[in-house]
Amino acid sequence: MISLTLNGEPRALDLDPEMPLLWVLRDHLGLMGTKYGCGKAECGACIVHLDGEPVNACMTPLSQVEGRSVTTIEGLSSDGRHPLQLAWIIEQVPQCGYCQPGQIMMAAALLNKHPRPTDAQIEEAMSRVLCRCGTYERIRRAVHRAASPEVQNG
Ligand code: FES
Repeated sequence: MISLTLNGEPRALDLDPEMPLLWVLRDHLGLMGTKYGCGKAECGACIVHLDGEPVNACMTPLSQVEGRSVTTIEGLSSDGRHPLQLAWIIEQVPQCGYCQPGQIMMAAALLNKHPRPTDAQIEEAMSRVLCRCGTYERIRRAVHRAASPEVQNG
């Protein structure tokens, strides 16, 4: 039995400890927001937070989250109004949308560390998440917007 906190709720899971967290989230808990992309921690579509740090869920065995706190895109805010989510809407960031949960979770980890990030800090952090649609410019604008007090006003 593996115990963890998932999106603020205590959970105990009777699953193979070697199973990647991504499979646990999607196939066993029905949390489909975290995406499967490459399965090799190269694309970032599966980024979640582990104790506040961004990790690739596809390469994180369940055993590694024992006693720790996992946050997925579903748990980022209770009402979908996290500053990043608002900024993503205002800037109309997504195209196909597939990479966007990973992008937002990566950006959230960045803002936790750097509340007013520079372009260089945004570029460095967000380079861990690929976007085949090329939304990088809108992502940069949205991260800046989320980091500014005006975000709620559009
Ligand atoms: Fe399509 Fe990023 S919006 S992969």
